Amino acid sequence: MSVKINKKYIHGQWSSRWAFILAATGSAVGLGNIWKFPYITGENGGGAFVLVYLFCIAAIGVPIMMAEVMLGRAARQSPINALTTLAKQAGASKLWRLLGWMGVTAGFLILSYYSVIAGWTLAYVFRSASGAFSLVTADGVRSMFTGLVSDPERLLAWHTIFMVMTVVIIARGVRGGLEQAVRVLMPALFVLLLVLVGYAMNTDYFMAGVRFMFTPDFSALSAAGVLTALGHAFFTLSLGMGAIMIYGSYLPKDASIAVTSVTICLADTMVALLAGLAIFPIVFANGLEPGAGPSLIFQTLPLAFGQMPGGIFFGTLFFVLLLLAAWTSAISLLEPAVAWMVENHNVDRIMAASFLGLLTWLLGIVTIMSFSDWAFSFNFLGSDEPKTSGMFDVLDILTANIMLPVGGMLIAIFAGRVMSEKMTKQELGIRAPGAYALWAFLIRYVSPVLVLIVLLGLFGFFGFVAKLFGI
Ligand code: PHE
Repeated sequence: MSVKINKKYIHGQWSSRWAFILAATGSAVGLGNIWKFPYITGENGGGAFVLVYLFCIAAIGVPIMMAEVMLGRAARQSPINALTTLAKQAGASKLWRLLGWMGVTAGFLILSYYSVIAGWTLAYVFRSASGAFSLVTADGVRSMFTGLVSDPERLLAWHTIFMVMTVVIIARGVRGGLEQAVRVLMPALFVLLLVLVGYAMNTDYFMAGVRFMFTPDFSALSAAGVLTALGHAFFTLSLGMGAIMIYGSYLPKDASIAVTSVTICLADTMVALLAGLAIFPIVFANGLEPGAGPSLIFQTLPLAFGQMPGGIFFGTLFFVLLLLAAWTSAISLLEPAVAWMVENHNVDRIMAASFLGLLTWLLGIVTIMSFSDWAFSFNFLGSDEPKTSGMFDVLDILTANIMLPVGGMLIAIFAGRVMSEKMTKQELGIRAPGAYALWAFLIRYVSPVLVLIVLLGLFGFFGFVAKLFGI
């Protein structure tokens, strides 16, 4: 059966391959790299966690990123429709469209809390600019943070501002503004991280930070920690929910998918590692706890900015850049849903973005309350101790540790087994000898199997089987 695919996509196309790399890097680099990576590394004991994370990026992230870009570009539609069309073309089940739906749902859930954390960043822009960090003590920083997160009204205000910012850009179309913004933003963020690492090098505790991050101690890593590392590989690369797929659908035909994907993964990983190298020395120099959780960067960086010369300037600039990085990621979280509404429901981008933005904003209120009034204790699969910030943790674990890996695994199966080899070979257009075979091997055998093993391990499956056989 032949299915017609529009060669010109209705939402437009990137102006060049370079524009795509910038936009996809804008999606990938965000709070995940600078806020989340350091704190989950701290919570999971450092080196061994980092090693598993790096392995997941290389063996699972890179091939799945190539697969997502390829699926998007092959179909030139939003993920839900792309999967429907490609499944039809391959004579496969219609149910594959549900994978698109799961992605859209994951993006929506992630954005609801992502926006709240971006709101913290926004609050810290103003704190930094007002000089509140000057010579502040570790206790002072802590009470400043607690003051913010236990004040739902202030959090709601910042969350609202951030959601409005996101909706405005999506409504105008991701191409125009985004390309320009990321071109300046990414290099600036990179330079500022280097400044922070430079500061950390002068703290006497730089080597302690390096050791913490790069000396693997596998006894410090639990099965849940391995899943967190895997889930984070998906989260930080924006994989498993269609964000990269939809950006891939705007990619010109002649761009090399392999080269672009590897570039994006490298840039993303560099940013995360630099963030860790900037933060852990400050943690140790001030006797702070690496496992402090989501507040980690908000409790460490103000100390550094409070002490360094020009701290008000650098601090403000840093939080502005982090905010912008979060912004370019937030846009990509909602874009698959918006594009789908525009394609299927005959509404314009402004309508679709406003409606979906409003829904996300409402759900975000749950996260806000979970940091104060609605906090409850719960014990999620595989975690050793009950957590107390409630809904935020539930959403984080559900999306990053379950929905994204499952989505990624299914994308790998779709690209590697449902689509014909002829089609993927042609679409990927890899010329280097052996490179296509390597991708096909990784996407068919390595990525989906590893994800499955880690997920089953978390559910205690192996212990159960061992017990069953009396081992
Ligand atoms: N990759 C983004 C970050 O690291 C978050 C994100 C996840 C964006 C999934 C899009 C899709 O902050």
